[in-house]
Amino acid sequence: MKVNIKSFEKDMTEYKKYILDYEAWMLNLRDPDVVQNIAEHLYPVEYTESVFTQEDREWMYGYAWHRCDTVRHNDNGTVFMSGNLQGVYEKFKEKIDFMLPGAEDSPVVGGNYFLTPEQYGLHNDSTRESDWASKLEREKKERRRRDRSYVPWRNILIPIWTAPAERTSHFVGFDQRHIDFAHVYNNKGKQPLATTYPIVTDHRMIDFHLGDGSLQDRNLNDKPYDEEHRKKYIYHTRASRLEGLTPETTCEWKPGDCFSFDAFQLHTTNMGFEDEPRWRTKLGLLLTFLRRVD
Ligand SMILES: [Fe+2]
Repeated sequence: MKVNIKSFEKDMTEYKKYILDYEAWMLNLRDPDVVQNIAEHLYPVEYTESVFTQEDREWMYGYAWHRCDTVRHNDNGTVFMSGNLQGVYEKFKEKIDFMLPGAEDSPVVGGNYFLTPEQYGLHNDSTRESDWASKLEREKKERRRRDRSYVPWRNILIPIWTAPAERTSHFVGFDQRHIDFAHVYNNKGKQPLATTYPIVTDHRMIDFHLGDGSLQDRNLNDKPYDEEHRKKYIYHTRASRLEGLTPETTCEWKPGDCFSFDAFQLHTTNMGFEDEPRWRTKLGLLLTFLRRVD
């Protein structure tokens, strides 16, 4: 895929700098009433095929390098570009609103591009507690009160390209939602992970809500995982790491297609099938949306 930045010219003239104050709108995700409200608004992964054309994805590819505000990488070599992603939403508003009715009510759009050589381990994509706390601290210092009546809602994942292009990989969304700030899940794990999120090493210490809003009995939080599903799709993940989880949606991570999922839903990606050649790198875009708590 090749992008000529001159093709951005018209958009350049209309270019806007969007303020990213995602966490400044947010309620405390540890408040029991907030948790209950979130539990009542959960629903499964929704997958839409052939939404974004090659031209759409070239535009997104160029935007990552020319319009984002920040770039960083982590220890497994994943490069993240973020800031100004509201511009992507504005450009593809019609398609995104169609796939995710309610996206238009989010006062801000967050997320990041990720260019990665690695499959992603188990995590949720809500919001980092430290980002939320520092925004709250700043408000106190400035003595102003924001309209904090929102919570993380749904995230949209847009696969942009895979290299080599024909290689298959998957996204697995589990039934379990951890309604809390962002975490990585490494049940019974002893090795450090390349992440800036706090790590849960014992599923029995946390609560999982299911997609229907009910609370999973904690006694099931160390129940063995479906070994058949693990061997087929997530063979690279230790069985003990998956204890307490059940697969909800397994879908292809395929450029052109797109899917949305609950911000609190545990999910992972894979390197493809074990007996097929693996992909080397891929570029994807995560867009995150808020929901007002009534
Ligand atoms: Fe994620």
